[in-house]
Amino acid sequence: MSIVDVRQLSKRYPARAGHGPVLALDGVELSVEEGEIVCIVGPSGCGKTSLLNILAGFEDATSGAALFKGAPIQGPSPDRGVVFQEAALFPWLSARRNVEFGLVEKRMPKAERHSTSLEYLRLVGLEAAADRLPAALSGGMRQRVALARSLANGATVLLLDEPFAALDAQTKAQMHGELLRIWETMRTTMVLITHSIDEAVALADRVVVMAPNPGRIVTQFRIDLDRPRDDTSHPFNEYKREIRQVINDCTRSVAS
Ligand SMILES: Nc1ncnc2c1ncn2[C@@H]1O[C@H](COP(=O)(O)OP(=O)(O)O)[C@@H](O)[C@H]1O
Ligand SMILES: [Mg+2]
Repeated sequence: MSIVDVRQLSKRYPARAGHGPVLALDGVELSVEEGEIVCIVGPSGCGKTSLLNILAGFEDATSGAALFKGAPIQGPSPDRGVVFQEAALFPWLSARRNVEFGLVEKRMPKAERHSTSLEYLRLVGLEAAADRLPAALSGGMRQRVALARSLANGATVLLLDEPFAALDAQTKAQMHGELLRIWETMRTTMVLITHSIDEAVALADRVVVMAPNPGRIVTQFRIDLDRPRDDTSHPFNEYKREIRQVINDCTRSVAS
């Protein structure tokens, strides 16, 4: 069953100083199945963030529909947890209190709040760092707190906009393992934007390739590889090669 549906979605930004109007999304069609990991790749400016922001409920579409569980998305909701490149944590609150923040707003009783936040910090391997402030956590740990916070607040879909782009290669690989462990435990649906074809093939059930001017989906690849995936294997590198080829072809047709 699909949990997210996008139908003929378009987004036009009006002209601003020095720029004409931009058709950031043009007739985008996408369905995401429950429990699926979909990675969206494509060059800068192809509308990845615009699409994610509409799914998050931060922005409205110009036309078309964005549905969550069959109902139009009308604003942000804890059902749809968003994780950005830099974890948007409150710097004055400990990891645990950051995870608890939404639960306080929901008026969850204190004891339940504590056990819930610790449960999710444990899930991301950060129980021992529960009382640390964000400044005392590494970039990867901060992203794990952001994931724990989204899940503790009841996210059934995670919307991730280049969540690991600012991390070094080793931490990035570790975060891929974390994310897949979360997925194996919770079967959370994920829509993950990335610049990295490697990352997409490592994580996705399906890779959606977008192209700019206007922003659109050009093709999709189902990644039919068991997990954990061996990034040195022939099929893994074949997927990478095919996806890179599509992206290069789009870039070349714009340039010529
Ligand atoms: N708030 C905005 N106002 C005007 N133009 C925007 C705005 N946000 C994005 N754009 C333009 O829309 C296009 C798609 O941007 P974006 O969705 O951020 O792409 P991506 O995340 O793939 O880099 C780009 O041309 C960008 O300059
Ligand atoms: Mg972006």
